[in-house]
Amino acid sequence: MRLTERIASLRSGSRLGECPRSRYDRAVSEPVFRRESMLDILAFVEAELAAERDGFGFRVLDPDLGRGRYAGELIDHAGALHVHRPLRVWLDLAERLGLRLRTPLAAGDGLIRLRFERLDLDRRWQDPADAERERYGATSGYARIAKLEDPGFVIDLAEAVVRARLGAAPRVLDLGVNTGDELAVIARVAPELQVVGVDHSASALAVARARFPAHRFVEGDLGALADLALGVFDLVISLNTLQSPGVDDREVLRRVVQHHLAPAGAVILGLPNVRYVDGEASYGARMKNFRQPELGLLVKDVAFYRKYLQQHGRQVFVTGKHTVLVTGVAAPLDA
Ligand SMILES: C[S@@+](CC[C@H](N)C(=O)[O-])C[C@H]1O[C@@H](n2cnc3c(N)ncnc32)[C@H](O)[C@@H]1O
Repeated sequence: MRLTERIASLRSGSRLGECPRSRYDRAVSEPVFRRESMLDILAFVEAELAAERDGFGFRVLDPDLGRGRYAGELIDHAGALHVHRPLRVWLDLAERLGLRLRTPLAAGDGLIRLRFERLDLDRRWQDPADAERERYGATSGYARIAKLEDPGFVIDLAEAVVRARLGAAPRVLDLGVNTGDELAVIARVAPELQVVGVDHSASALAVARARFPAHRFVEGDLGALADLALGVFDLVISLNTLQSPGVDDREVLRRVVQHHLAPAGAVILGLPNVRYVDGEASYGARMKNFRQPELGLLVKDVAFYRKYLQQHGRQVFVTGKHTVLVTGVAAPLDA
């Protein structure tokens, strides 16, 4: 159900049931929102989308004029009251409704012009033609996504690696290493690391080998770790991989903890909590037929990993945004 319908059904007979555009300005294609509530603005946006418009816009007070205020606080500007909203509010609105926010433009009189365009939901990164093992290969759509350009990913992963309290030359096992993006982050914290990376994509591993010639990369299946004679590690990391089709995440975790983890070793598991569409990363795991994020399965997996690692003597931290990180580190001796 659309937001407008939901709101209308909750508050039938209220002014939100009207066609929102007519309330603002019939003649001007881009209304100015001054004191309107976010409910009203969302109703306007939904109406624009329902009218099958690919792009639309409106003008609001320049957020710079309300620096230091929270969204919703009133500002008196040039004799008129406006609701202040930080720029992030408009980015969130776009993200949640499957829109792209174009760069805001100055519109005079302290206003900015916000323009939104509908994302092409068919432009996902997946290429159905990719063979299963090369679904994330060097020439796949996935190769266009640079995790290292996501500041949250880099900050959260670096913090998780610091928590792992690695020694001088830690042995690191990366399951689902792909082209090795995460290794660049770990290397900042532990420059002398020695890595074994496992993946079933030959083309992604070729890129990883070229980037990190000192490390070892093994082409293999996570379902057959026992055949790979990998050894024991100070850190085992697996990001955005254990939820892949055909991977038994519980079995991989059990094997890691029982066969590949040093007594004081750490584990970092990353679960995807993002959708990549038409050049935009939007927060939240999606369930089939859900328009908005639904985190039920993700939370269930996180709870399982957390409990399992705790049962095996680890202190566990859950962090991250687009990649939710479950970090298990050896509990301090005095804990
Ligand atoms: C979504 S990518 C994540 C890559 C990287 N860790 C990251 O976070 O960007 C998942 C990776 O796991 C690999 N993979 C998926 N299933 C696998 C399996 N059964 N055995 C080995 N590798 C697998 C894919 O080839 C891919 O490189």
